[in-house]
Amino acid sequence: MLSNIAAFLLPALALANPVPAAQSAAIDPSLITILDHSYSGNGCPQGSVSNSSSTDKTVITFGFDQFQTYYGPGTQQKDWSKACQLHLNLKYPGGFQYAVVEATYHGWARLDKGVTGTFLTTYFFSQNAAATSTTRMTAQGGGKLAEGEVYTKNDKVETTAVVWSPCGTNGLLNINNRISLTSSNTSAYGELSNDDATVAFTQQVHVAWQPCTPSSGNGNGGIEIGWPKAVESELDI
Ligand SMILES: *[C@@H]1O[C@H](CO)[C@@H](O)[C@H](O)[C@H]1NC(C)=O
Ligand SMILES: *[C@@H]1O[C@H](CO)[C@@H](O)[C@H](O)[C@H]1NC(C)=O
Repeated sequence: MLSNIAAFLLPALALANPVPAAQSAAIDPSLITILDHSYSGNGCPQGSVSNSSSTDKTVITFGFDQFQTYYGPGTQQKDWSKACQLHLNLKYPGGFQYAVVEATYHGWARLDKGVTGTFLTTYFFSQNAAATSTTRMTAQGGGKLAEGEVYTKNDKVETTAVVWSPCGTNGLLNINNRISLTSSNTSAYGELSNDDATVAFTQQVHVAWQPCTPSSGNGNGGIEIGWPKAVESELDI
């Protein structure tokens, strides 16, 4: 408990008066941590998203109440597609970094024959917005899906960063999720939801990490963050 409190207070103290490396070790300065987050989009209006983080701040889970799409008689075009962008403000330690972002999504699909459900996820850093990586899940209706099935989408995305400042820097990771339903048969029904998303920073590797000391400053020289690359996207439906 004590170390959790220390971990919570130390980043704020470090801003006002940088603490020696030995004391800041309690927050594990060698890990990328999630400082805070926000979300936006018609699939996640304010108040419809819950969140919980691991105590070491390397994993966050979101729960969605309204990230749902519907197709069929009585539905309108706005019901067929929904988007939710997650914005994660990350604290990078100093030194070269490599990390795998592992994102797991759970949801529900019920699709008549002829209805197609699509779940697209695009990863990019605000610092390097042109470098994007997209994963796609496609589900064709009929068969078991006509009865309704729980699905899991599991993405593994490699990300790299060069952070020379010993005190590290911040990175803003954006994860754009869009679910949608299409069909040429306006009498068919479909339903696709995303109920939760868990984002974890795993396989973190750094070389030449140096402690952040009062004299090492917070210089911005040689900081580059980005280049997400999907290495795996699995669908279990
Ligand atoms: C995350 O959850 C906490 C605790 O429930 C809440 O206070 C906070 O507002 C949530 N953050 C966002 C961005 O919704
Ligand atoms: C359209 O969908 C309805 C409801 O699933 C089905 O009864 C009908 O056969 C479908 N029409 C075509 C042309 O596939």
